[in-house]
Amino acid sequence: MNHDPVSLGGPRFRSEPAALYRELRREYGAVAPVLLDADIPAWLVLGYRELHQVTGDPALFSRDSGLWNQWDRVPDGWPMLPMIGRGHSSVLHTVGEHHRARVAVITGALEAVDPFELRSHTERYADELIDAVCAEGAADLVAHYADLLPVRVLATLYGFADEQGPGLVAALSDMVDGGEDAVAGSLHVAASMARLVADRAARPADDVVSRMLASGRTAGGLALTHEEIAQDLIVMMTAGQQPTAGWIGNSLRLMLTDVRFAASLFGGRRSVAEAMNEVLWEDTPAQNVAGRWASRDARLGGRAIRAGDLLLLGIQAANHDPQVRTHGSALSGGNSAHFAFGHGEHRCPFPAQEIAEVVARTAIEVVLDRLPDLDLAVPPTALTRRRSPWLGSLTRLPVRFTPTSPHG
Ligand code: HEM
Repeated sequence: MNHDPVSLGGPRFRSEPAALYRELRREYGAVAPVLLDADIPAWLVLGYRELHQVTGDPALFSRDSGLWNQWDRVPDGWPMLPMIGRGHSSVLHTVGEHHRARVAVITGALEAVDPFELRSHTERYADELIDAVCAEGAADLVAHYADLLPVRVLATLYGFADEQGPGLVAALSDMVDGGEDAVAGSLHVAASMARLVADRAARPADDVVSRMLASGRTAGGLALTHEEIAQDLIVMMTAGQQPTAGWIGNSLRLMLTDVRFAASLFGGRRSVAEAMNEVLWEDTPAQNVAGRWASRDARLGGRAIRAGDLLLLGIQAANHDPQVRTHGSALSGGNSAHFAFGHGEHRCPFPAQEIAEVVARTAIEVVLDRLPDLDLAVPPTALTRRRSPWLGSLTRLPVRFTPTSPHG
């Protein structure tokens, strides 16, 4: 039996993740040793119960990346650094009281978003994007649609002017692609966010940024600086964009390739919700999340974890854990005990989950309404996943349909 750790950057994490997680579980059990780029070791938590344990005990399994026992081995320009994170600059890596204060500021600002307005912003941008392709009779619903939509909606909720939307979409996508424009993209996002924060500090309005500034002044007795608020706004935008886009693309793919959903392409609303929930179990947008760091030596799933070890949350693998999916039962349907949004203190804030749900559902419904005889333009086996161990989204979703006229 091969007991070498598996590389998380390897091709099988992309091409056949389900088979790989099964093999890892067979070989190592609920917690498997893996290697990140430059052969830096980590643990991948594959077991449902073990993932519950890790995310539910923030004192033992901390979000504080400063605890990592591998920092001296991380090379300059290490490609995984943006996902692992360093320092305490955002809500992601703060812990304890300070973290609770920052989450409360985010939660309050997102809770106040009116779901009807949210739906109407989403419909407006979705219609614009469909208008741009509907006369063609063909489109890529990832590149021309899903990847462009959530960030436009989030930018509007923040209070950005409409004309700044396309620039932010491009900059954010450069930033997450990690190519040669990544630094310029992240500078554009950071500068735009700093300007918006300064502007709303001087002239508050009814938007997410103004609400975060107002509650951030007294957050649980810990006033947040404008830099901290801008940092969290960037995290919310990047944490919100990619997974919501992935949720839209993966749900559309399921509906276009699975006969159970064929009828809903002609207008059945209930099936959209069912497809979306099934995706959160079976083909979840955030497949693996980094991570937690052990604050002291511990045992997990029969493994000896050392203080400072990094544990990656194997969300997709845990959703498929045979211990909770007994007798081939699909825990799909209305069951939402999946890990798609994480669990515990650092889980995706509830109002953020609700925003993602409204944006994704509206986006899918607009596609089905506007392109009624939609069909996949390539065989399902030609659909490929992104080169990312973290995201479970498609690179493209080519479709064809009868050309129609733009609405506008
Ligand atoms: C389908 C869409 C989404 C998915 C699958 C998703 C998934 C996740 C997951 C798995 C985590 C937990 C990470 C962990 O435990 O370490 C998380 C955290 C977070 N998400 Fe989401 N998310 C989505 C949409 C959004 C949206 C739309 C927003 C903001 C508007 C957002 C904001 C955040 C924030 C701020 C955190 C960090 C919470 C913390 O560290 O305390 N997410 N998300």
